[in-house]
Amino acid sequence: MQTRIGILTGGGDCPGLNAVIRAVVKTAAQRSWQTIGILGGFEGLLSPVRTRPLDYHEMDGLLFVGGTILGTSNKGHFAAKTGHGEARRIPEAVLDEACHNFKQLGLRALVVVGGDGSLSIAQQLFEHGMPVVGVPKTIDNDIEATAVTFGFDSAVHCATDALDRLRTTAASHDRVMVLEVMGRYAGWIAVHAGIAGGGDVILIPEIPFRYESICEKIADRERAGKKFTLVVVAEGARPEGGTFSTVGPAETNREARLGGIGSTVAAEIQKRTGKETRVCVLGHLQRGGAPTSFDRFLCTRFGAHAVRLIEEERYGCMAAYRPPEIMPVRISDAIGRLRTVPRDGELVRIGRALGISFGD
Ligand code: F6P
Repeated sequence: MQTRIGILTGGGDCPGLNAVIRAVVKTAAQRSWQTIGILGGFEGLLSPVRTRPLDYHEMDGLLFVGGTILGTSNKGHFAAKTGHGEARRIPEAVLDEACHNFKQLGLRALVVVGGDGSLSIAQQLFEHGMPVVGVPKTIDNDIEATAVTFGFDSAVHCATDALDRLRTTAASHDRVMVLEVMGRYAGWIAVHAGIAGGGDVILIPEIPFRYESICEKIADRERAGKKFTLVVVAEGARPEGGTFSTVGPAETNREARLGGIGSTVAAEIQKRTGKETRVCVLGHLQRGGAPTSFDRFLCTRFGAHAVRLIEEERYGCMAAYRPPEIMPVRISDAIGRLRTVPRDGELVRIGRALGISFGD
């Protein structure tokens, strides 16, 4: 009987998911294996099971298509996190049902493409007896054990482009422009895009900020004849002693939705400095569209590596980027704690050396 493997995409979407699916299907086809797509994230493993075979020829042109042809979900029976990232155990009955259906499908193994939440579900399924391998995905770039996740480079590219555009309008009007970017608990997008896009102030979750400090930076720039300022704010940034800025009511078994800190920061800057200030929330633009060439390359390597992990029966492992290699690491070594921007690390030191304020 032909070997069949399954693949699903879990959590929030990001550029490059389809590139991973393509790489898995093509690499599997080289071994005459068939790939079955599980639809709608982990939910597709619950009865009635939702799957579809992925045909080799269907992969044509998928490399640069945003989103995921399999669909995905970051809520429902498999929600692995609640509130502000508190871990949640998946109920035994849900794991049982998923493992039962997996066997019924006649799959040799399952490729889980996801972030910290999805990989922790993958680990729980693995501990429950399912042969699972992982691929690390998230624009937030906050997964341990890999130098970078796919989707991050595309998000940084989008945020950098936004800063380039905001710079010209800020300079024309002598304004402060505040750009709110994603990055729930880690400021990687803000720092990378802030440095690449010439931001003057970068506010990240790892470094609580003070409004006095931000306004001092704006005043310094004024004295130096620079009448505009670009401020990059990660959605998870907060003032010293303050809390996360959230939108909408809290939902059971779902992480809080962050957002709104950009508007708060902009209003406070305008109040304190008297300078006209505008805010731009980049939001899901960072998660949509075509992946960059870096991400396409990384996704293709990750996908091919995941199939090799199955061939070698290295279950419970995920593909990790340890430059210059893609290497297997235990999923259990990658989950449970997020990789955040070191407060005194090289990135922050370089930023400070360039005169960038981190608002502290
Ligand atoms: O984890 C990726 C991410 O894009 C975060 O940066 C953001 O806080 C969250 O997902 C948004 O999720 P949703 O699309 O469910 O609002």
